[in-house]
Amino acid sequence: MFGPRLDGTNGVSLRTPTLEDHKTFVHWTLEPEATRFWGGRIADIRDEAFAERHTKDAESQNSVTWSIAFENETVGFTGLFDIDWVSRDAESGIFIGRHDLYGRGIASETIRLRTAFAWRELGLLRVHNWISLRNRGSRRANEKAGYRQMGLMKRYAFRSGQWYDDWQGEVFSPDIPAGTFVPPSTGG
Ligand SMILES: CC(C)(COP(=O)(O)OP(=O)(O)OC[C@H]1O[C@@H](n2cnc3c(N)ncnc32)[C@H](O)[C@@H]1OP(=O)(O)O)[C@@H](O)C(=O)NCCC(=O)NCCS
Repeated sequence: MFGPRLDGTNGVSLRTPTLEDHKTFVHWTLEPEATRFWGGRIADIRDEAFAERHTKDAESQNSVTWSIAFENETVGFTGLFDIDWVSRDAESGIFIGRHDLYGRGIASETIRLRTAFAWRELGLLRVHNWISLRNRGSRRANEKAGYRQMGLMKRYAFRSGQWYDDWQGEVFSPDIPAGTFVPPSTGG
C-alpha cells in the first residue's frame, strides 16, 4: 500500500510514490554518499524492475510506503514494513538520497509524521527498526521521535572491510495497554 500525503513543517511532506520516484530511489541506493550504512549497494536498474517494484509496493498488504518531499521535490523514501496486524507491530525505514540536504531536519520531521500515522491511522502499538550503531544521524532522528534502544547486535554487517554493530530501536504507542505483556520465565 502507498501512504497518503502528509504535510509536515519546514517544507517536509510525505507523498504517494510515483513510478518516477521509484526509479530515482533505486539509483540513489547505488550512490556512496547515501549508502555508507545502508543496503547492499547492488540493484537491478532495468525499466521492468522499477515497474515491478512499484507494483509490488502498491499491492503489498503489510507495508505502507511514501516518498519524502522537501520543498515539493522528492528527496527520499520511507515506510512501515512487515506490518503484523495482529500484534500491531511494524518495522520502519528511511532513506534520504539527496546527501546535499543532510542535517536540515528532513529525517526528524519524516519520522515524526510516519510515527503519528502508525498510531493514529493504522492503530499500531509498536514500531521497531535496525540502525547501524555508527549512523548517528539516523539514531538521533529516531530518538527524537521516541525510539529507544532495545538491543545491540554485534558485528551485524560487513562492509568496506569492516564489521558494523547494529542498534535496535523501538517506540510504543501512547495508547498501548498496560500490564499485558507475558513476563519472562523464571525457570519454575
Ligand atoms: C540518516 C539520515 C536519515 C538522517 O537524515 P537527516 O535529514 O540528515 O537528519 P536530521 O537533519 O533530521 O538530523 C537528525 C539529528 O541527527 C543529527 N545528525 C544528522 N546527521 C548527523 C551526523 N552525520 N552525525 C551526527 N549527528 C547527525 C542532527 O543534528 C539532528 O539532531 P539535532 O536535532 O539534535 O540537532 C540521512 O542522512 C539518510 O537518509 N542517510 C542515508 C540512508 C540511511 O542511512 N538511512 C537510515 C538507515 S537506518
